[in-house]
Amino acid sequence: MKFQLTEDQLMIKQAAREFAQNELKPGVIERDSHMKYPAEQVQRMGELGLLGMMVNPEYGGGGMDTVSYVLAMEELSKIDNSCSVIMSVNNSLVCWGLEKYGTEEQKRKYLPNLTAGDKIGAFCLSEPEAGSDATSQRTTAEDKGDYYLLNGTKNWITNGGSASVYLVMAQTDVAKGSKGINCLIVEKGMDGFIVGAKEDKLGIRSSDTNTLIFNDVKVPKENRIGDNGFGFTFAMQTLSGGRIGIAAQALGIAAGAYELALDYAKTRKAFGKEISQHQAIQFKLADMATEIEAARLLVYHAAWLKDQNQNYDLASSMAKVFASEVAMRTTVEAVQIHGGYGYVKEYHVERLMRDAKITQIYEGTSEVQRIVISRSILK
Ligand code: CAA
Repeated sequence: MKFQLTEDQLMIKQAAREFAQNELKPGVIERDSHMKYPAEQVQRMGELGLLGMMVNPEYGGGGMDTVSYVLAMEELSKIDNSCSVIMSVNNSLVCWGLEKYGTEEQKRKYLPNLTAGDKIGAFCLSEPEAGSDATSQRTTAEDKGDYYLLNGTKNWITNGGSASVYLVMAQTDVAKGSKGINCLIVEKGMDGFIVGAKEDKLGIRSSDTNTLIFNDVKVPKENRIGDNGFGFTFAMQTLSGGRIGIAAQALGIAAGAYELALDYAKTRKAFGKEISQHQAIQFKLADMATEIEAARLLVYHAAWLKDQNQNYDLASSMAKVFASEVAMRTTVEAVQIHGGYGYVKEYHVERLMRDAKITQIYEGTSEVQRIVISRSILK
C-alpha cells in the first residue's frame, strides 16, 4: 500500500491550486451574486488542459489519470464550484463517456473541441418525472430508419445553455424498459431543439442549469452512442465515474471551508485570546480535519480503483455520499466558527455552505447512493 502522490500528481495539484487562488478567487463573489457565467475562466480552463484531463492526447486531452483529475477538482472546488461543476461534467460525464463508448468518428468529431473548451458538453438524463427514478424516461427517440425523432423535456441540465454538445438519454422501445433507452449526441442548433429557462439556484450560481425541450428533433443514427438499447447502461457507467468527480468537488468544498475557518480561528480574538485557543473551537476543527481526511481517502481510493481498471461503482457511491455529507457538516461549522462574519459574502464560507448542498443531490442523491451501496453489499 502506498499513500503517496507522484511528483506529477503533486505538480498538477499545485498548478490547479495556483489557478484557483489567482484566477478564480478574484471575482468569484461577484459572479455568484449575479449568476454570471464564467466564460473567461472556462476558456482558461481549456487552455490549461482542465477540461479533458483524462482524454487520450490523440483526441486533444491531457492523458492523465483519475487521481490527478480529483486533485485538480479538489483545488478548484475550494474556491469556485460553478467552475468545478462545469469541469466535472465536461470531463467525466461527457468526454469520458464519448471516449469510452463513442465510435472513432464521434471521438474525432467532438473530443478535440470539448477538451480545448471551444465547446462544452452536457449530460441529459433528468426529466420532470425522472430524477432519481432514472429508468422512467419520458423523452422518446422514435426510430425512423436513418434518424431518431426526439421529443421530450430534460430538467436541471448543468451547462444547459452554454453547452454545444448534449448527450441525451431517450426511450426508443418502452416495452424493453431500461434496455430500450438510447443515448444520442444532440448539437445546439439542431431544428426543434430549444434551450429553455435558466434556473435561479441556491448555490453554484454562476454555472448555468436549464430546461431543454426537444420538438421533433431529427438526430442522425450515427449520433447514437453504442448499440441500440445501450443508453441506460451508458448513463449508469458514466455516472459511476461522474460521482468520483462530484465526491472530489465535495471534498474540495469541505477542505476549502476548513482552511478558511482554521485561518480565521487563529486570528480572531474573543475573551482575551484567539478563538483557536478555546476548546469549543478546537474540537470543531478536530472533527472537521478528521472527517475531511476520511473523505479524502475514500475519494482518492475510488479514483485509484478506476485507474487500476478495477470496479469502482461501490467505491464511487461511498465516496460521494460520505464526502458530500462531510461538505455539508464542515461548511455549517465553518460558518459557525466565523460567527457573524461567516454570514456575509465577503468571507466566502457562506457560498461554500450553499454550494455544498448540491453535492448531496446531483449525480444521484445521497439516498440513491445508499441504494447503490446497499444493493452491492447485499447481493
Ligand atoms: N452499470 C451497468 N449497468 C447498470 C448499472 C451500472 N452501474 N446500474 C444499473 N445497471 C443496470 C441494471 O443491472 C439493470 O439491468 P438488468 O435489468 O439487466 O438487471 C438496469 O441497469 C436497470 O437498473 P436497476 O434495476 O438497478 O434500476 P432502478 O430503477 O432500480 O434504478 C438507480 C437504479 C441506481 C436508482 C438509478 O436509477 C440511478 O442511478 N438513479 C439516479 C440517477 C442520477 O444519478 N441522476 C443524476 C443526473 S445527471 C447529473 O446530475 C449531472 C449534472 O448535471 C451535474
